[in-house]
Amino acid sequence: MTESSWTSAGHDVEKSVDLDPQTQALATTIQLPQGFRAVADDVEFAPQVFEALARVEKMLLNAVANSDPIIDRASRHLAEAGGKRVRPLLVVLSSLLGERGITDEVVKAACIVEMTHLATLYHDDVMDDAPMRRGAPTAQHVWGNSVAILTGDLILARASVLAAQLGPGAVEVQARTFERLCLGQLHEFAGVREGEDPIAHYIQVLSDKTASLIACAGYYGTFYGGASDELRDVLVDYGEKVGIAFQLADDVIDIMGQEKASGKINGTDLREGVDTLPVLYARQDAAAGDAEAQRVVELVDGDLTSDQDLKTAVTALAAHPATQRAWDEARAWSRKAIEALAPLPHGTVRSALEAFADAVVTREG
Ligand code: IPE
Ligand code: IPE
Ligand code: MG
Ligand code: MG
Repeated sequence: MTESSWTSAGHDVEKSVDLDPQTQALATTIQLPQGFRAVADDVEFAPQVFEALARVEKMLLNAVANSDPIIDRASRHLAEAGGKRVRPLLVVLSSLLGERGITDEVVKAACIVEMTHLATLYHDDVMDDAPMRRGAPTAQHVWGNSVAILTGDLILARASVLAAQLGPGAVEVQARTFERLCLGQLHEFAGVREGEDPIAHYIQVLSDKTASLIACAGYYGTFYGGASDELRDVLVDYGEKVGIAFQLADDVIDIMGQEKASGKINGTDLREGVDTLPVLYARQDAAAGDAEAQRVVELVDGDLTSDQDLKTAVTALAAHPATQRAWDEARAWSRKAIEALAPLPHGTVRSALEAFADAVVTREG
């Protein structure tokens, strides 16, 4: 067995992607979810945005393909299952703030961000024992934990190859992002420490496991689009805030979302015993003597192995004001993200970034 037969991608991901008829056709089929679709449609550069996303898509599908049949189906599984592609969208939108705009580097950076995201999803579904993702059975349910973990590693390695093509700066940004991602997941797993405020712990986890990569999208977009350092800092700050809003929304969607839209099974966090904000608020209310909250907490802390018991707990929590308060918190972070855009010039890109922050907290899945 030669080295390349173990490691090489099925296709050459190194070549710069020239827009060919196939990519052009892809551009017309990019399926962003409704709210995000409106964001991209409204930008005066909409055709370039969709064209760029199509180029990202092409690069991504090439980069996850594998000449080794043992891994090919698993490594293409999640990318082909769909997903919202909001991180590549943010890279592309951010790049429009720069004087160079959507360059080949921007397209590659967007691909790196989506691949880093993909790798974490393979790993996260093992950690969370999640059955469904993007409307498909999760990799570990199809091929087992070992294949799912190694596939995530493989995709991360491929993302690093692309980052190396952009240069050491890109590698460092991606590595630092992934470091925070791992720390966030580890802190979530370890739980709150004695004497630590559970809500502060939770927000820190969100910031590290989710906002880090969304901030990275803003960094890459502005950097490779040729924006100033000042604009880059603004987009990183925005990404950190919109990222927290995004994960807060995800956590509420786990309780009251539309499974068809999210492609995931409601209650996955509850069954895994991950205390998200609705549960933390319900615990606070229960401790303050709210009888309904005490009933909710009892259900949430009970045995959730059966689907019926899980449904009962999810329904009770969804009906409790704690969940609405968690939504309010998501909206507050979305507003903070919009406020962070204040130094940007008024125009279609700023409006699109504002609409992006709105879409994060009005989505159903
Ligand atoms: C899921 O992210 C993981 C979180 C950080 C909440 P997305 O909701 O962006 O998942 P896809 O890419 O659309 O599947
Ligand atoms: C996912 O967090 C964050 C990362 C993938 C790093 P969750 O576990 O809450 O996300 P979903 O709900 O499974 O997508
Ligand atoms: Mg999960
Ligand atoms: Mg998780």
